[in-house]
Amino acid sequence: MEKTEKLSHAITELDNLMDYYEAVLRKRFPFTPKNRDFSSVARTLAAPAPEPEVEETPQEDFSGLDMKRLQFAVQNCTRCQLCKTRTNTVFGEGCTYKPLVMVIGEGPGEKEDLSGRPFVGPAGEFLDKWLAAIGLSRDTNTYIANIVKCRPPQNRDPMDEEKDACKAFLYQQIALVMPKAILCVGKPASMLMTGKTDATMASLRQKLFLYDYSIPMICTYHPAAVLRNLEWKAPVWEDLKKLRSIIFPPVRG
Ligand code: URA
Repeated sequence: MEKTEKLSHAITELDNLMDYYEAVLRKRFPFTPKNRDFSSVARTLAAPAPEPEVEETPQEDFSGLDMKRLQFAVQNCTRCQLCKTRTNTVFGEGCTYKPLVMVIGEGPGEKEDLSGRPFVGPAGEFLDKWLAAIGLSRDTNTYIANIVKCRPPQNRDPMDEEKDACKAFLYQQIALVMPKAILCVGKPASMLMTGKTDATMASLRQKLFLYDYSIPMICTYHPAAVLRNLEWKAPVWEDLKKLRSIIFPPVRG
């Protein structure tokens, strides 16, 4: 039987039942029943079942985890589709406690995916030179991580749902590492960390932000982008000098 046919049978039955009760009641009480209107019931019953609401990626709370447990959680993460194509997760590396700077990049590329280490390709070698120019190194005083821990296929930008699924790991990494300053490289990292999703890199790099109301944070171009656009070397140098003045404030007197 068709759904509408079933519905019309049900309404007829209901109508008959109401006739019966009205007749019973009318014997005892003088009352005038209202016109019956089943249209809203019929519309509700006939309407197709609403689509289930799309569930937001659950934001787990990683705030109780130490570095080892956090890394284990990342290694076993299946919170987004990137887990299906990764070879290795890329958690982060460098000075894990109170570094002068924490660098935040976009996501692993091919070499990072194969090695499980951040910034080890050509962009990484370039980044190491930038850091060395202002007295920083991942071997001593700098920590390096990315906003997503698994490689986006073909090195595309990470999608919103991938960033959303991964950002709780990064926030806990920052809380554990407690850097003196943060350097975001590239637009995806800069936009996520500043919350300014429609700003240009040119405008973001001009500002000084405070992460969590306390950690000075600046943004600059991504080393891979600078390798393709050498005219951005000069603005990057300006940004690095600004970073240097934050972490090594000039001694006055
Ligand atoms: N680019 C990034 O943003 N991160 C890496 O780890 C490597 C390249």
